[in-house]
Amino acid sequence: MQETSEFDIRLIPSHIALIMDGNGRWAEERRRPRLAGHKAGVDSVRAVVETAREIGVRYLTLYAFSTENWQRPRAEVKGLMALLRTYLESELRTMLKNDIRLFCIGQRERLPADVLSVLEQVMQETEHCREMTLNLALSYGGRNEMIRAVRKMAHKCVAGEVDPDALSEGMLGECLDTFGQPDPDLLIRTGGEHRLSNFLLWQVSYAELYFTETKWPDFRKYQLLEAVATYGRRQRRFGKTGAQLLGR
Ligand code: FPP
Repeated sequence: MQETSEFDIRLIPSHIALIMDGNGRWAEERRRPRLAGHKAGVDSVRAVVETAREIGVRYLTLYAFSTENWQRPRAEVKGLMALLRTYLESELRTMLKNDIRLFCIGQRERLPADVLSVLEQVMQETEHCREMTLNLALSYGGRNEMIRAVRKMAHKCVAGEVDPDALSEGMLGECLDTFGQPDPDLLIRTGGEHRLSNFLLWQVSYAELYFTETKWPDFRKYQLLEAVATYGRRQRRFGKTGAQLLGR
């Protein structure tokens, strides 16, 4: 196992976004119900949050429930919501101890009242935490986030607060759920698919993409370190040439 102390802090992504895919297939391979996969996935969430905090990641965004996921069988949605609630209840102490702030992106008002209440309580109690922000994307869709942002800007224009011709990328960024946070440097997707699935469509414009066959329940500390090490070996050019970046 790669030791965390081997990592060069300058090569640690400030913001990692994660599409946690493959829970259902992991469970099916073991002839177990899909929910068993999600349950094992919660242990991966714990391991990844702990490791990210340990190596100095400042923002970690987990795609926990998409706007499309509401269409899953009722029992699965109910099971996922129960897991989410238990996770939030059990993790508050650890978050406080590790100085982790919990934040939520997406339409959280669509969540069941009991989950929403625990979520808001944990968000409130960890609001002062500074070392890492854990964003849970819940009832989240990138297009939905963008249209809500566009509506906010349209209201400002109609109210005469902003000139439509002055609208900028920065202003749109301020209207997104992730306002005030840096864009992800690294986007990881587990489970073998090579898609964005409506996740952070605006924010991942320049993110490095990392896809792995590993299914989410098997993605733990070592797998995260492997992804971060791969990121560290890549050269991010932001549209410039390699020579420009080296100041030549
Ligand atoms: C995708 O796997 C995963 C999800 C839709 C839910 C992810 C949820 C968790 C890991 C647990 C709860 C989250 C937290 C933050 C405590 P899939 O079911 O689409 O897998 P498949 O593609 O193999 O069917």
